[in-house]
Amino acid sequence: MPKTIYGFSKLSKSEKVEWLLDTYFEDKTNARILVTQYWNSNEKLQKLHDEFIENTITNYYLPLGVAPNFLINNMLYTIPMAIEESSVVAAASKAAKFWLDRGGFKTEVISTEKIGQVHFTFSGDQNELKNFFTTIKPKLISKSAPITKNMQRRGGGILDIELRDKTTNLNNYYQLHATFETLDAMGANFINSCLEQFAKIFKEEAESSLNGDLDIVMSILSNYVPNCIVRAEVSCKIEELQSKDIENPALFAKKYKQAIDIAEIEPYRAVTHNKGIMNGIDAVVLATGNDFRAVEAGIHAYASRNGQYSSLTHCSVADNIFKFWIEIPLALGTVGGLTSLHPLVKFALELLEKPTARELMQIVAVAGLAQNFAAVKSLTTTGIQEGHMKMHLMNILNQFEATSAEKNELVEHFKTNVVTHSAVVEAIENLRK
Ligand code: MEV
Repeated sequence: MPKTIYGFSKLSKSEKVEWLLDTYFEDKTNARILVTQYWNSNEKLQKLHDEFIENTITNYYLPLGVAPNFLINNMLYTIPMAIEESSVVAAASKAAKFWLDRGGFKTEVISTEKIGQVHFTFSGDQNELKNFFTTIKPKLISKSAPITKNMQRRGGGILDIELRDKTTNLNNYYQLHATFETLDAMGANFINSCLEQFAKIFKEEAESSLNGDLDIVMSILSNYVPNCIVRAEVSCKIEELQSKDIENPALFAKKYKQAIDIAEIEPYRAVTHNKGIMNGIDAVVLATGNDFRAVEAGIHAYASRNGQYSSLTHCSVADNIFKFWIEIPLALGTVGGLTSLHPLVKFALELLEKPTARELMQIVAVAGLAQNFAAVKSLTTTGIQEGHMKMHLMNILNQFEATSAEKNELVEHFKTNVVTHSAVVEAIENLRK
């Protein structure tokens, strides 16, 4: 049974690794190699990564791929994607190419408002609280000026603060519900600093001029941003859908719309459908140094906003036009956070020609829409396994350290044979006999 350790964070990186090896591993030599082979020989770069988090022991690699040929509002982009799932980048590239020949993606930022809340309890008279809030509100804003002045100079800042009565849901519970414009910053730090300032002033002033106990519970931004919305769309005439895998465009459009309609009304399908969208979204969010957990949480809440979890994408087939679109909340930043710290994030942002947060919202929404298009197109035509298994074949061949010659031969063989793990293993063994 492993022993408790005190002061682990104070150990050096090598000492931490040695403790782990002593405590958990039988083959220490092999485990040490596994961990230390990912250390970067560039000490400065390694130190940078070590300091992103506490108790770093090594680096965890994910592939960074790119999907070229994305035509978005008549501009061409190559989109960076950090992801482990083998078929995602290939699918994005295929969807980009498909729509490149059909007018590309059209996008629009609908709104950019961020939200934060001071949660508090108050046991006194509600009307007195409301009057107190109205009097104190300008002071909450003016006393936050040291935090907000730079953001305000650039055109952002606090948009509004409301007092919200939540006492019908929870005894004595109220909120200061604040809205913000944070421009190119995701805004978490800015918003949380403002909220803590509101909370401090609110509490201080309440103590001197309000009857009843007012207690701050917490001050924190919300990752639910239903008024920070971006839309992306593709459309074409039905006959223009004709391609290598779409022989009958009218039938394809009908079946495709049915698949989207199913995801709109059936939560079991909607979750998987949206997971496919998140394959694209998370990969770009991660590559550009944004917080994919915040994005995930906010998007899934939005998918349930009408009381049932539902599809994030929608499709119409009318007047001979096939139209497919997505509308999602996205709180992203292209300044602050990891964006100026992580060298590969800087690379990804430069690849995207240094987008503003609004532009990045549009690129990310397109990646989600493209990914969903590729998945649903496969699902409603060839089935998903054909493409997946091609990539899976490569993974198995790499596991067996196949040479280039072996790979060529086996890829050829599996063009006409079904890929299963055992079939690939058997084929490699036969080849090596
Ligand atoms: C797999 O990562 C994603 C899909 O399941 C998405 C979908 O079913 O739409 C293929």
